[in-house]
Amino acid sequence: MYICICNAITDRHIETAVSEGAITVEDLQRQLSLGSQCGSCKACAKACLNSIHQQNRVMAAAAPCLI
Ligand code: FES
Repeated sequence: MYICICNAITDRHIETAVSEGAITVEDLQRQLSLGSQCGSCKACAKACLNSIHQQNRVMAAAAPCLI
């Protein structure tokens, strides 16, 4: 799903950025140039980021030896 239309950034790009260390929307801005044009994607990017972090916390709690 596209999160930032202006820069063609999808949720998959965000997942990859998180796996490479992105924690905040500002990290996504630096790594992917997300929000660098109209900026209307930042709220959606934050929700996507929160969802990924939540998913990672659940995975870490369920299988701590795999993370
Ligand atoms: S939708 Fe992301 S900068 Fe425009």
